[in-house]
Amino acid sequence: MQRDFQERVQAAVASARNHGASTPRVGLILGSGLSDLVDQLLPAETGRLAIPYGEIEGFGVTSVIGHRGALYVTPDVAVMAGRFHFYEGKPIDDVVLPVATLCALGIRALIVTNAAGGINPDYQPGDLVLIRDHINLMGTNPLIGPKDPESVARFPDMTEAYSATLRRTALDLDAQLKEGVYVAFTGPTYETPAEIRMLGAVGGDLVGMSTVPEVIVARSYGVEVLGISTVTNLAAGLSGKPLDHSEVVEVGSSIQGRMTTLLSGLLKRLGS
Ligand code: HPA
Repeated sequence: MQRDFQERVQAAVASARNHGASTPRVGLILGSGLSDLVDQLLPAETGRLAIPYGEIEGFGVTSVIGHRGALYVTPDVAVMAGRFHFYEGKPIDDVVLPVATLCALGIRALIVTNAAGGINPDYQPGDLVLIRDHINLMGTNPLIGPKDPESVARFPDMTEAYSATLRRTALDLDAQLKEGVYVAFTGPTYETPAEIRMLGAVGGDLVGMSTVPEVIVARSYGVEVLGISTVTNLAAGLSGKPLDHSEVVEVGSSIQGRMTTLLSGLLKRLGS
């Protein structure tokens, strides 16, 4: 984080408040193929406000297909429909500015969703997996730089980056959820089969290109995190066919019903 990061967060918070955001209790980040869920989770009748990222100071515009690019707010809930990725070529501060903004708006819990490749042989495309822990192989950390004055510590503890309590709550709502360790690479290439064999050997169950920077920042603010991955494909080399982003978006979309039920249950419990 650069020295001006907190000023940027405060400017983004001020823009969001000018557009009508208040102090939501829970934040949700919708990943690849999941942006449209916001219409079921916060239907227009709830009086939700939709703020395009381009209207929030410093956010910029997302470039990835399947990511809508707007912040939706009600008095209790803030939903990011679409996120920024390091592979888009943005500085890491830009990638984590939205999540820091949610934290600064006052959320106490953050739900992060993503699309991931399945490494664990028990996983099938279409599975939903609770993230139990992560391995950061992005080669960077968003907290590198001067200590952010809003962050709880210079060296935030990551022992329980993903809240065990929130995972129990999720399992209460959907007993079929699996659990696993998420490994983050920068992308934008998918991994090689050799990399996937390595990740399996070191305890990785899922692989993706997002989430970890957001979770690090949320934990640095003391916000509790729940991570949910959609297994959109078997990781490279495990299925015998090449990987394709359109398949990732399609499988992400195909589990919308189950994901909507789970997320709306979670938002009800955490948003009140
Ligand atoms: N690798 C990395 N990121 C991904 C994958 C994958 O196999 N699937 C969806 N996002």
